[in-house]
Amino acid sequence: MLKNRLLIFCLLTSIQLLYSIDIQSIRVVGKFMCADQPAPLFRITLYEEELGKMCGTYTTTEGAFNISGHKIKSASIQPYLNVFNKCNNTADPCQHHWKMELMNVQSYITPQKNAVKTFDIGTYNLEAKYGNCQDGKTIVKAVPIQQ
Ligand SMILES: *[C@@H]1O[C@H](CO)[C@@H](O)[C@H](O)[C@H]1NC(C)=O
Ligand SMILES: *[C@@H]1O[C@H](CO)[C@@H](O)[C@H](O)[C@H]1NC(C)=O
Repeated sequence: MLKNRLLIFCLLTSIQLLYSIDIQSIRVVGKFMCADQPAPLFRITLYEEELGKMCGTYTTTEGAFNISGHKIKSASIQPYLNVFNKCNNTADPCQHHWKMELMNVQSYITPQKNAVKTFDIGTYNLEAKYGNCQDGKTIVKAVPIQQ
């Protein structure tokens, strides 16, 4: 009887351990332009909606970025990119700060610290208007096409 109880206790503990250590990582690549010119050395930060900053980087002189990060969370992570837009043709103050939400990216999440898969958001012109203004930020949603 005691042996059985112990066995059940151990089983439950290991199941809890399996689910509580839930590392999730993602890599995101893409490119930003100011009209027909690359957006060089723009600050890009990867966040998780509830848990905060995952990683920060800058675009290259070609406007490209390659960023990855991880968080420990039992539900699916909800990543987004913060982009500080320094293009010159941005009279609309809301355009200076983009929040790019990475939607439905479950298939791009790796259950370990180092991201294996890469979500490529493609190329965006920061002088064009894509999303809506919310709390002083332009909210843009990037959704993978396949799935
Ligand atoms: C992004 O960085 C990773 C790790 O350095 C590299 O393997 C991958 O090829 C890079 N991807 C792009 C599109 O630059
Ligand atoms: C914005 O204009 C300044 C001054 O003309 C220039 O030095 C800078 O490179 C421009 N920035 C971009 C992102 O084009």
